Amino acid sequence: MEKTEDQTMEKIVSLAKRRGFIFPACEIYGGFGSSFSYGPYGTALKNNIKSLWLKRFVDGRDDMYAIDGPIILHPALWKASGHTDGFNDAMVDCKKCKKRFRADHLVEEATGEDHEGDLVKLNAALAAGIACPNCKAKQWTDARFFSLMFKTEMNGLEEPVYLRPETAGAIFVEFNNILDTMRPKLPFGIAQIGKAFRNEIVTGNFIFRVREFEQMEIEYFIDPEKEWDDVFENLLKEQEAFCRDLGLAEGSFTRREHEKEKLSHYSRKTVDVEYSFPFGVKELFGLAHRGDFDLKVHSEHSGKKLEFFDQASGRRFIPHVIEPSFGVERALLATLHSAYREEILEGGEERAVLKLPYQLAPIKVAIFPLLKNKEQLVAKAREIYSELRSVFACEFDDNGNIGKRYRRQDEIGTPFCVTIDFDTLEKGEVTVRHRDTMKQEKVSVEELKNYLLGQLK
Ligand code: GAP
Repeated sequence: MEKTEDQTMEKIVSLAKRRGFIFPACEIYGGFGSSFSYGPYGTALKNNIKSLWLKRFVDGRDDMYAIDGPIILHPALWKASGHTDGFNDAMVDCKKCKKRFRADHLVEEATGEDHEGDLVKLNAALAAGIACPNCKAKQWTDARFFSLMFKTEMNGLEEPVYLRPETAGAIFVEFNNILDTMRPKLPFGIAQIGKAFRNEIVTGNFIFRVREFEQMEIEYFIDPEKEWDDVFENLLKEQEAFCRDLGLAEGSFTRREHEKEKLSHYSRKTVDVEYSFPFGVKELFGLAHRGDFDLKVHSEHSGKKLEFFDQASGRRFIPHVIEPSFGVERALLATLHSAYREEILEGGEERAVLKLPYQLAPIKVAIFPLLKNKEQLVAKAREIYSELRSVFACEFDDNGNIGKRYRRQDEIGTPFCVTIDFDTLEKGEVTVRHRDTMKQEKVSVEELKNYLLGQLK
């Protein structure tokens, strides 16, 4: 069935809550600051996304090293990187309804022009007659900058400290430790998955823009004297391959290269991988050539050399860096959106199904005794369940009729349902039902584990 995009978003949000993926956090207190909690299936899906990422970008390669740094880092780091003074968004208030907006978003939506970071151009564009999306008035306060840094305090320290606004910072400050302990050759990358915090002015579109989120980032260090286009292109291709790992359809994710004039002074090239979300084509992941900016500023501010010594040529230099950056929440939202389907079954019944890639499905196999009140069936189903759960993420369900149990597993994306019925007791066979085709087949209990291993590999 054709889905209209607005409805799809509503349906995904509703399914996410109803089926234990994502809940608005602190609902008993009325919700809080657009934050979300991940339920059991959301947690599993998130973990599976992170595992796939680690497999593709770290474990499957010889040139990547994973670290896990702190959320609260030395404030000097953020001063050096420019975040303390310059990590801002321009905000503007509607004088009539008092609603607050990101000025660059308003201008871009109305004119298609990107004036991020340029207050003069943003104010001029707003004054030229952009209407408030809420009340349609055209009276704006002056746009002004608002820091995105989350400030907090640390006992014993007078100056404020910050929750990291990106995971990248923790990577640069451990550059020497990775060199000393791992002895990598160039090019090599340092990878990290972890929480990042941004005091966003406007959050929204479910988990697309939130104040607390997870990033999966890599700083990939290269020799500045060597050609870098291929390295950049290969990382971009890997980002696109990761989109395919997530099950995103060809054509739903696209590249957008930032205009040269809009790049930060140190960047040679920046490309966003965008996804066609129901609310528009928006940034999913980013890839930026950052030159030697980061290592250089941290070296200057810390007084410590952050250099690579190339034994072959005898050269000592500050490597350049290419940074692939991924948001876990955006990856998860794109995954849910791509996987969500509504189908009309024979007889007119509707089913909603998450056609998740098998590797991402929170539950791989659901086990059902046909009847809850037949002791022998339940005991056999429990026996099969306890054998399979040591290999796959499994769920045991004896609630309601089989049709309802299928619908529930379809909605959480479980690839296989196994029903234990009287044939199991008499002939040693179970019924395996496939999520995507809904086809059912008989498999012997003896063969079941290997059969599922073959299907799920
Ligand atoms: N170190 C580079 C960096 O942080 P970014 O484009 O600001 O670059 C990287 O962020 C990724 O983090 C984005 O592509 C997006 O997936 C995710 N992200 C950024 N801000 C976010 C927010 N407020 N909510 C959810 N995800 C966000």
